[in-house]
Amino acid sequence: MPGMIPQAAPPLRIARFREEIDAMVARVLSGPSYILGELVSAFEAAFAETAGVAHCVGVASGTDALALALRALGIGPGDEVLLPALTFAGTAQAILHCGASPVFVEVDQATRCIDPAAAEGAIGPRTAAVVPVHLFGHPAAMPALMALADRHRLAVVEDCAQSHSAALGDRALGSFGHAAAYSFYPTKNLGGIGDGGAVVTADPALAERLRRLRHYGFAGGERVSGGIGFNSRLDEIQAAMLLALLPHLAEGNAERRASAARYRELLDGTGIGLPPEGAGSVYHQFAITVPDRDGLKRRLDAAGIGTAVHYAPGLHRHPAFAEGARTPLPVTDALAGSLLSLPIQPEVATGHEARIAGTIRECLRCAG
Ligand SMILES: Cc1ncc(COP(=O)(O)O)c(C=O)c1O
Repeated sequence: MPGMIPQAAPPLRIARFREEIDAMVARVLSGPSYILGELVSAFEAAFAETAGVAHCVGVASGTDALALALRALGIGPGDEVLLPALTFAGTAQAILHCGASPVFVEVDQATRCIDPAAAEGAIGPRTAAVVPVHLFGHPAAMPALMALADRHRLAVVEDCAQSHSAALGDRALGSFGHAAAYSFYPTKNLGGIGDGGAVVTADPALAERLRRLRHYGFAGGERVSGGIGFNSRLDEIQAAMLLALLPHLAEGNAERRASAARYRELLDGTGIGLPPEGAGSVYHQFAITVPDRDGLKRRLDAAGIGTAVHYAPGLHRHPAFAEGARTPLPVTDALAGSLLSLPIQPEVATGHEARIAGTIRECLRCAG
């Protein structure tokens, strides 16, 4: 059997850019500062520019980025926050972390992102915010969502954990909402070798509140807590990794788009459901839909091709979030039962699309 193709392999990405990473990490080791030092500041400036917004505040994870952004926007106990149920658990956990209640909204069948009409229908007297997730790197319907947020005076925090440098038309995702949250978990399009996250915003006062929240409530250089604060800082080592990898983000996203285009050609005519097309998508995942998803996954595993399920069950079916399930979510349930993410990280997928698609065709023939 030819070699195993993993669904994702962050160490291969690190190996590819190892020289640049080593040089940047060496700068951290020689000091002078291991916490909130010069590389965190340098990364924040560089990432704000990439994200198309004025301010970036590095934090400890994507979940913290969402929770701190919501808190900085005044979301707290008694508030309800709308979000899609088809996302990673961290999106809803962040809402619980700031004392608010997640309320799940149906997704659009084509984009797999929150459906603006369903979001409008879910608004009640306690609704205070909405968290659209750009799932798998594809843009949610931001113009419609921002119009709805304006009409109902809702705060908007974009969950950009899977959409680094993605765009809708000529506008960067992350620049639509009042704030946007990023994760730098190792498998992300821009990922470190541990946990990390960031919030971006155009609002300088919001950025200042976030800087206090991530660092014990301290303002400026004083070690005096002006209010509640946490220890949630991006660390210097992760900042060094991210600074070394950021110049390669656009190239990596282009490679993902090229692999996606190959998969589309190669899987044409199979009846498999393909991801939505969009020039601004950055294909964090290339997730197909098939009725016998678990069977196909097993057969691909046996043939040496790694795949992953994102996300099953939908969050409305997790015990921690059960109160947020207000209406049936048939589209979410159907997608949760049929989505299968193929390898798309450039270091594992590029050049192997034909073998992967050919094996999928064989598996479907055998099963049929
Ligand atoms: C859509 C989404 N939101 C939030 C998170 C949470 O990020 P983290 O794992 O960095 O806390 C992730 C990923 O891990 C994610 O994919």
